[in-house]
Amino acid sequence: MENEIILETKNIIKDFPGVRALDNVSFYLKEGEVLGLVGENGAGKSTLMKILSGAYPFPSYSGEIFWKGKKCEFSRPKDSEETGIAIIYQELNLIPKLTVAENIFLGREPTVGKTGIISWKRLFNQAKELLNLLNISIAPDENIENLSIGKQQMVEIAKALSYDARILILDEPTSALTDHEIESLFKMINSLRERGVSMVYISHKLDEIFEITDRVTVLRDGKTVGSKLTAELTRQELIAKMVGRDIKDMYPKQTVQINEAVLEVKDFFVNHPFLLGEKVVREVNFQARKGEVLGIYGLMGSGRSELLTAIFGSFPADSAGEVCIEGKRTDIRSTHQAIDYGLGLVTEDRKLFGLVLGMGVGENVTLSSLEKLSWYQIIRKQQEHEVIEKYTQSLKIKTPSSETTVGTLSGGNQQKVVIAKWLATDPKILLLDEPTRGVDVGAKVEIYQIINGLTKKGVAVVMVSSDLPEILGMSDRILVMHEGRMVKEFLKGESTQEKIMFYATGGNDGS
Ligand SMILES: Nc1ncnc2c1ncn2[C@@H]1O[C@H](COP(=O)(O)OP(=O)(O)OP(=O)(O)O)[C@@H](O)[C@H]1O
Ligand SMILES: [Mg+2]
Repeated sequence: MENEIILETKNIIKDFPGVRALDNVSFYLKEGEVLGLVGENGAGKSTLMKILSGAYPFPSYSGEIFWKGKKCEFSRPKDSEETGIAIIYQELNLIPKLTVAENIFLGREPTVGKTGIISWKRLFNQAKELLNLLNISIAPDENIENLSIGKQQMVEIAKALSYDARILILDEPTSALTDHEIESLFKMINSLRERGVSMVYISHKLDEIFEITDRVTVLRDGKTVGSKLTAELTRQELIAKMVGRDIKDMYPKQTVQINEAVLEVKDFFVNHPFLLGEKVVREVNFQARKGEVLGIYGLMGSGRSELLTAIFGSFPADSAGEVCIEGKRTDIRSTHQAIDYGLGLVTEDRKLFGLVLGMGVGENVTLSSLEKLSWYQIIRKQQEHEVIEKYTQSLKIKTPSSETTVGTLSGGNQQKVVIAKWLATDPKILLLDEPTRGVDVGAKVEIYQIINGLTKKGVAVVMVSSDLPEILGMSDRILVMHEGRMVKEFLKGESTQEKIMFYATGGNDGS
């Protein structure tokens, strides 16, 4: 039986100052289908979903939305929610200090008779029932702050479904999940699909799109370019539709002459942030050489991000060991000193450490290189302008102007601003933590080209990534971390995904 269309949009137009985010988008979703929504950074995916969830209320957009063939208008999130649409944003919206049950039924807690007093027993029972139904093994009385990101997301989904949602929108749901959590999420998606729930799945991870979706719709520059059943689509075709050109080589690694070590890390330790006496990085020793891309692979929790952040001087009181730069021992006690030594760090969490969201694109780009651009505290405007121009162009940052507030850029474009900021400091050693997370396929290749350019200039690039093909495709040498230790080194061409995973998951060769 052909499933019916449950939701349809016609000619949606949405403007922001200086940019048309959606330009006549028509789109439909059938009952019980998982629709992949893909497109470059800034294509309009999140904006379209925010319109469907009532976050951008009518009439801030034009065009029509139909629910089961009937025209509807959402003037606030509640309207969309009551219709049966739930959205899980990438930044989760739970209250950390409250329990799972309280979060799920916030504002709708069952009360004792008509007293207005919360019936905790019924609250926890209701939550338990719902979690059981969804096969989620989380205790309803657990505090949200004690749960991993993956579990928190499950709670968000449970909450969404407690409103009896018929459509669930997932905007880049797996970017902070472990492989295991992704597996559970996919199980959940499959069982919801069986129960007739429709889903929109947004992701830049094309493997996921091919694994979990039934159909794919591609947006480009605010327009729908096409829609096809996933089974009838090839990867090449999908990429070409997204970026408007063929990408032949996803990993255009250029090997250059590798010279002496510029960074040497010896017997490095980092303390656990709150467990006294525990360590998240233990006895780590490694070198990074001029012109080299050193890939570091580790599962979530292996200490990979802590290692980079600590080398960069972020926790001087909680890390110990030697860091030598160009053969000289350093005593980096702050990130400011790290920058003076020629280090740069592109962080994993751009919202927390990477950007000042309320400031302009340009200001963010030059944030870490102001000293270089200043002359006795006076910023040389012309030079600053040139730097901003150079990087917004070479990284193809999509922004109406360099004054535009960074927080309004699409996720992937924010990531490019973080990278631009560190390139502008002209580092000798660039530490990259998940540099292409949330970045579209085309822009990924651009970032790899930038890495090539850096190594050609003799920069040492240390890249932590949980994207195995990226690690394999771009590294000259690969280190594998497990539980805070470096457990294996592979030279270029020696490793495979399977071999890396073996060591990353605690396997050892007995030596
Ligand atoms: N609140 C806002 N104010 C101004 N411009 C915005 C706002 N939100 C989005 N935009 C702009 O609208 C366009 C579409 O952005 P959107 O976030 O929908 O892209 P996206 O497809 O989700 O991209 P990504 O894959 O990077 O998340 C971009 O050019 C973006 O800069
Ligand atoms: Mg988005």
